Amino acid sequence: MSSPATPPQNPPSTDVPPTIEWQRKPAGIDANLRDYDSVASTFDWKTVEREFDWSWTQKVNVVHEAVDRHAVSWRKNKIALYYTDDDRRDEKYTFQDLKILTSRFAHVLKRLGVKTGDRVGVFLPRTPELYIAILGINRVGAIPVPLFEAFMEQAIEDRLGNSEAVVCVTTPALKDRIPRAKLPALHRLILVGAAGESADHEVSYEQAMAQAPDWVEPAWLTIDDGLIIHYTSGSTGKSKGALHRQYAMVGHYQTSKWALDLREDDTLWCTADPGWVTGTSYGIYGPWTLGISSVVIGGRFDPDRWYQTIQRYQVTMWYSAPTAYRMLMSAGDALPRQYDLSSLRHICSVGEPLNPEALRWVRQITGIAPHETWWMTETGMQLICNYRSLDFPIGCTGKPFPGTSATVVDDQGKELPPGQLGNLVVKPGWPSMMKEIWNNPAKYQEYFRIPGWYVSGDTAYKDEHGYLWYQGRADDVIKTAGERVGPFEVESALVAHPAVAEAGVIGKPDEVRGQIIKAFIALRKGHQPSEQLKQEIATFVKNHLAAHAAPREIAFVDKVPKTRSGKIMRRVLRAWDLGEPVGDISTMEE
Ligand code: WTA
Repeated sequence: MSSPATPPQNPPSTDVPPTIEWQRKPAGIDANLRDYDSVASTFDWKTVEREFDWSWTQKVNVVHEAVDRHAVSWRKNKIALYYTDDDRRDEKYTFQDLKILTSRFAHVLKRLGVKTGDRVGVFLPRTPELYIAILGINRVGAIPVPLFEAFMEQAIEDRLGNSEAVVCVTTPALKDRIPRAKLPALHRLILVGAAGESADHEVSYEQAMAQAPDWVEPAWLTIDDGLIIHYTSGSTGKSKGALHRQYAMVGHYQTSKWALDLREDDTLWCTADPGWVTGTSYGIYGPWTLGISSVVIGGRFDPDRWYQTIQRYQVTMWYSAPTAYRMLMSAGDALPRQYDLSSLRHICSVGEPLNPEALRWVRQITGIAPHETWWMTETGMQLICNYRSLDFPIGCTGKPFPGTSATVVDDQGKELPPGQLGNLVVKPGWPSMMKEIWNNPAKYQEYFRIPGWYVSGDTAYKDEHGYLWYQGRADDVIKTAGERVGPFEVESALVAHPAVAEAGVIGKPDEVRGQIIKAFIALRKGHQPSEQLKQEIATFVKNHLAAHAAPREIAFVDKVPKTRSGKIMRRVLRAWDLGEPVGDISTMEE
C-alpha cells in the first residue's frame, strides 16, 4: 500500500512488540460473551433478530423496541434516564415516562406536517429534551439529524441544508445560529424553554407538549427505512451525512450486550453527546433496546463532577474516550480517592487510540482496565473490541466483533500477513453499516474502492494472535479530543477571514487531546503577522464553525504548498511542523 499520510501515533510496527504486557482475565469470568472463539466461529445475526418484536409482527420502529415494549412490561417503572446538570435540573424518567413524552412530541411533529422519511434537525444542549426529541422523531418515522451544540452558523447551514430538514428543534439561545433565510426547506422551529411563540414559524415546545395526547402509535416502517443521519467529516469537502437504517438496532443491541457487557441491573454512563454517533448508538438505541438504565449529565467537563457522577448513580458500566481519561489523569490521583468508584464493573473506550499509560492509570484508580472499542460514524456500531472475558495485549485495538470481519489488506484487497501495516477494512454487510451518504452516492462508493471491502481510512496491522493494532489515519482527517474534524471545513472557514489568502490545516500530535488543529496561513497583502491576528482568526473560526474546530496553533507562511492541480500538500505541512525534511515535492506548483 502507499505509505500512510499521517505519521502513525504509535511507531509503526513490523512485528508484535516484544515487551508486550497482557491484560489477563480470570478464568470463568461472568461476562455476557463468555467464549469469544467459539461464539465468533458460529454466530449468526439472525438469532439476534428474534429479540425484537418486529421479527414476528413485521412492524418496525426503533421507538417500539427501545421504549414502548418496556413500558408495557415489568420495566414500565424502571428508570431509563437519570439526568442532572450543573445546578438547575435533577430528574429521572421511566420507560413509561419516555413513552408518554415521545408520543407527545410525535404529536407535535405531526401537527406541523412532519411525515415518514422527513428530516428533522435536533440542535439542543445535552438535556432530556434532546433524547425525547430524537425518539419522538423516530416515532413518526422521520429521520433525526443531531447537530452538536457547539456548532455555529456555517456548520448548521451545511448540515440542515444538505439534509433539507423541514423542522428543527432548538432553544432560544441557539436559534440565532440557524440561518433560516438560507434554508428554504426549513419551515418551523420548535423552541425548548421559550417564554412563548414570538414568530409565526416558531412553536413553543412546552405549550405544544402540554396539549398533546399521551399515546401516539409509532409509524410502522421496514427494516430498511431511515433511523438517523449523523454528519461526519472526511479529508475532502464538506461534512457528509451517514444515513443509518432501522436494522442498525440489531447491531446496537448485540454490541451493547457483548462489548459493553450490559445487563439488566446495570447503570450505564456513556459520556458522549448525541451530536456524535456514540451518543446515539450507545446513549440511546443500544442501552434502551436492552431496557438498561442510563445516566446523562449536562454542562461542561469537570473532573470532580465526573467522579461524583459515578459515585452518586452507582455507575456500573462507563463508556468514555481517551481524551477524557487523560484529562482526568492530569487532574491528579488525589481527586478520585475522595470518591467511591467501587460500583464500576466494566469500562470501555472509543474515538481514538487509548495509550497504555492512560489505560494503566484508569486501572489503577478504578481497578478496571478500559477496553478498546473501534468503530466509526459510518459503521454505526462497534466492530473491533476487547471483551470482558478475553485476555488482550495492552495497546491493541481488539478483535472483530462476532459476525463481522475486520482485517488488514493491501491496496488490491489481499489480506496481509501478521505484522504488516495496511488498510483496515471490513467485509460489508454488518447490521449497522450506513445505508448511504445522504444526497451523495459518489461519496458512498468511495468507501468501497477496494473491491469486496469497506475501507475505513485507518491503517493497522494484525498480530499473530489475531488482535488488530490501530496505527493511524491514512488520510488527513483530524481527531481532536475524540471529535472528528475535516481539514477542508476549517480551511474554508479560515479563508473567509478578510486577512487570510490561503490556509492549510493539519492535526498536530498532542499528549492530552490526541491531536490539535494547526493552521498554516498565508496573509493577504497589507496584513502583518501578529499574535493578535492569530487570536482574531481563531476566534473567527470559533464563531463561524465551532469551538472544537478552531485552530489552537497558527503559523504564518509565505505560501501554502499545493500540487499543480491545486491540492493542499498537508504532508509538507506536517513535515514543516515537525521540522523534518519535506521529501519529494516534485508535484508542487511553482
Ligand atoms: C478513530 C467514532 C483508535 C478511527 C465512533 C476512526 C479509533 C475514527 C478508535 C472514527 C479506537 C475510533 N482506537 N482509533 N478505539 N475508535 N477511532 O466517526 O480513526 O467520530 O476511523 O466515530 O475514529 O471516528 P468517528
